[in-house]
Amino acid sequence: MESSFTYPENLTKAERYVRFCEDFRLFMDGETDLIAALSNTSAALREAFGFFWVGFYLVKDEQWLTLGPFQGSTACSRIRRGRGVCGTAWDQHRSIVVPDVDAFPGHIACSSLSRSEIVIPIAVPTPDAPVLGVLDIDSDRLSAFDDTDLQGLETVVSILSKLFL
Ligand code: SME
Repeated sequence: MESSFTYPENLTKAERYVRFCEDFRLFMDGETDLIAALSNTSAALREAFGFFWVGFYLVKDEQWLTLGPFQGSTACSRIRRGRGVCGTAWDQHRSIVVPDVDAFPGHIACSSLSRSEIVIPIAVPTPDAPVLGVLDIDSDRLSAFDDTDLQGLETVVSILSKLFL
């Protein structure tokens, strides 16, 4: 199936997320394979937003995240629960926006070019559901992520979460 997540340059970020989420929902309709879905999600987000690094870390046991599908340069393959931005988002079950990675205690630098970061935990939509992984996005610019990214990416993750059922 041919698809494109390329949008006009003149869209605002909010408009771009609206278009992206509409197209992404249709694109993911009927997809049941987790690896295929996460791989295409990484590629689609990078195509639409030009992110420096975008990918997933998946909970593999009680203490470790393991690198999943991603787009960008090679990255740390394992992150301990509670460590770095990803391990903290998992442990605290909350999204984290980091305007300056150097100011985040314990930030794990997979690339020295990363300057800001956003991490969204993934959980199936049931009460007290455990975190199953995280969506991690890095920018090579300071303060690249804001509430618009947070809302847009939480929508993307909610579309994906049914794949973990
Ligand atoms: N910076 C992350 C590690 C993963 S890389 O950014 C791809 C962290 O502190 O958890």
